Amino acid sequence: TVELNPALLPLDWLLGSWESDEPGEGCFTSIKPFRYIETLNFSHVGQPVINFTFNAFHAETKKPLHRECGFIRMQPGALRVAFIIAQNSGLVEIEEGELTAQRLNLQSQALARVSFAREPHVQKISRVIQLRPDGRLEQTVSMATDNQPMMQHLHIIYRRSS
Ligand code: HEM
Repeated sequence: TVELNPALLPLDWLLGSWESDEPGEGCFTSIKPFRYIETLNFSHVGQPVINFTFNAFHAETKKPLHRECGFIRMQPGALRVAFIIAQNSGLVEIEEGELTAQRLNLQSQALARVSFAREPHVQKISRVIQLRPDGRLEQTVSMATDNQPMMQHLHIIYRRSS
């Protein structure tokens, strides 16, 4: 096993694998509310970078749905964190924000998508990822699209799976 780069110590609580404890809840004004399950993995290879994958599945059929993968970097000497993300929907994004204790508060700084991405297009994303006092991990994602103002899309709680 490779030693964790000291630059990542403030994020060591994220490392490892997580799976939804109970199905996550999806919503948005324009869609039917839904439930989903999701597994997360955060790993490193000794660089000052965390590698991650988020894989979501239909809560009943277990059919693969949304997927994201990317990298997490921290500004040297600061608690500013950047997520560099690619999504299977054809979206790529940079999210940045501050780490306070074991809570990340991120906002999209840049979004781009494939020319034939489905509409409506996302215009802004914000997410909070935090370690709860009970040791579970919680993620809340809000977004604004062409048609709708900023509003919650996802809420989910994970337990450690390794
Ligand atoms: C719908 C974006 C993550 C499941 C949508 C829509 C957008 C969107 C723009 C269409 C909304 C509308 O029609 O007004 C995103 C973004 C995500 C994300 C930016 C991550 C940051 C997820 C995840 C799941 C999911 C993790 C889990 C399964 C769905 C479903 C719908 C939907 C089921 C409704 C049906 C559909 O349009 O496919 N999402 N989504 N999304 N999303 Fe997400």
